[in-house]
Amino acid sequence: PGQSDYDLANDISTGQTGLRQDLTSYGDAHFSLFLRKVFIKAAGYSEDALSRPIVGIINTYSSFNPCHDRDLVSDKHGFQGNVPQLIEAVKRGVHLNGGLAMEFPTISVHESFASPTSMYLRNLMSMDTEEMINAQPVDSVVMIGGCDKTTPAQLMGGISANKPIISLVTGPMMPGSHKGTRVGACTDCRNNWAAFRAGKIDIEDISAINEELGPTVGTCGVMGTASTMACILAALGMMPLKGATAAAVSAARIRIAEETGGHAVNAATKKIKPQDVLTRESFINGITVLQAIGGSTNAIVHIMAIINRHPAIAGSITLDTIDEIGRKTPLLVDLKPSGDNYMTDFHNAGGMPALLHAVKPLLHLEARTVTGQTLGELLAQTKYVPVPQDHPTNCIRPLDNPLYPASSLIVLSGNLAPGKAVMKASASKDRRLLKHKGAAVVFSNTADMALRIDSPDLQVDEDSVLVLQSIGPIGNPGMPEAGMIPIPRKLAAQGVTDMLRISDGRMSGTAGGTIVLHISPESAVPDSPLGIVRDGDIVECDADARVLKVHLSDEEIVKRIARRKETLEDGSAWVARGQMRGYRGLYMSSVNQAEQGADFDFLTAAGPASGT
Ligand code: FES
Ligand code: MG
Repeated sequence: PGQSDYDLANDISTGQTGLRQDLTSYGDAHFSLFLRKVFIKAAGYSEDALSRPIVGIINTYSSFNPCHDRDLVSDKHGFQGNVPQLIEAVKRGVHLNGGLAMEFPTISVHESFASPTSMYLRNLMSMDTEEMINAQPVDSVVMIGGCDKTTPAQLMGGISANKPIISLVTGPMMPGSHKGTRVGACTDCRNNWAAFRAGKIDIEDISAINEELGPTVGTCGVMGTASTMACILAALGMMPLKGATAAAVSAARIRIAEETGGHAVNAATKKIKPQDVLTRESFINGITVLQAIGGSTNAIVHIMAIINRHPAIAGSITLDTIDEIGRKTPLLVDLKPSGDNYMTDFHNAGGMPALLHAVKPLLHLEARTVTGQTLGELLAQTKYVPVPQDHPTNCIRPLDNPLYPASSLIVLSGNLAPGKAVMKASASKDRRLLKHKGAAVVFSNTADMALRIDSPDLQVDEDSVLVLQSIGPIGNPGMPEAGMIPIPRKLAAQGVTDMLRISDGRMSGTAGGTIVLHISPESAVPDSPLGIVRDGDIVECDADARVLKVHLSDEEIVKRIARRKETLEDGSAWVARGQMRGYRGLYMSSVNQAEQGADFDFLTAAGPASGT
């Protein structure tokens, strides 16, 4: 009382927190703070409120992102998008703990509504996140994400900004039901679509199923990329352990949001920064969980991008590390697409705390978390009462009775993938294909595939290897999830449900099959062996030996690559990459390969130093 607003010498001397951060805009720190207060007071804030740690809340609402929705229109179950409630609960948690919550938007990216692909925009979202965290006077930030690309984008940007951050996901959808069978986005989107293509279900059924696949807001309800990334974030210590699995439309989700607000104030006060929280051990824990849940292959690209943002860890964990961890880690969580259940079942079986207890011998319990406690300390606070193994809702297996013994996600190499390739071995439908050799049927891009895949004249049988080129990061910006090449209609009609399929693209985390992805270098790169494979070449995959090769001599490969370079067309992605405007130009000239995370080279820790 009695202290004038103009007593700024004292105001500024209280330290560089809250509104006092980065008061350089006008070359006069006192005037900068004075002006800031003018404008923030215009929004009705008092001096008391403004004296507290400021917790930013990133609101990624978009009407084009039902996984993050806030529309006030209820669905048939009476639910509405949960983002407004989450924000309100985070604010409550912040205010109960003595902070001031300030909400701000960044872009939002949904899987189905982002053209050409959501992955094309992930790095843009990460730049938006990083720059807004840097630019604004926040002491810590709650990052509300959920849909596949949003949580990795936020963590990439948050690590680079290196202010205290904590993740909050919107949570998974509930499953729906059709004729007594549960269905959920989006493994069942694919299964049912394949059944429809094969003529096994009719138009009425597929239309009815369409109504039920996404019965509530939230993220896809199986172990797709969104759920995988949520589990990894919990294992990395970047969110409360229970935060990964609670349904979007549950009270538990709202309570997690409140708790998150409290942690964010603590992180602000103690200056708990992501580059300090995240260590090599944290990432080993994250990758162990990725393998134990049979997570999405996309998560491998994201985790490499996240790791390569971290100056102390970049380069020390590679795809080989992911494979090595996989050899020691059994698949324990029985969820679609590797198993049978939905995220709500996983949550009801104990969620991440239960899984972490089950894989405890494989974890580094001394790893720190954003709460300030270690992972081991957090786990010790959770009661672990395993659901009986024969109980119908149990979907977390013990270490000694896994769903799949080890190596759910594997890394392949060989003359067809000198920079490696990735496969979700646990999602193979026809295990005989895990060691298989067959003649290539090559599609030069997705348009070529769309044109010919269902042609009765296509020279293909069930032992053929379907090869799709030009769906890598550069070849088809954003590496579309076209890697799950459809079974040619004539074979599907004969009952063929799986074939060995290989590409430089991605596959949805909700998809399954014997599918090799992320082949590097991608075919758009002139030196890529994938780019010179032709119809009839013998392609071999041996999952146990971790081999992906084409039966061609080294000389033949060199010869074909040299010939290809001479004839590289003007219109090719590689040639055109330096000639494009705007974000497309930035993307094309800067994106790195899948094994590095498909990030922009100038954003990685190995890129230019920050601020230069
Ligand atoms: Fe958003 Fe699946 S589409 S999580
Ligand atoms: Mg997905």
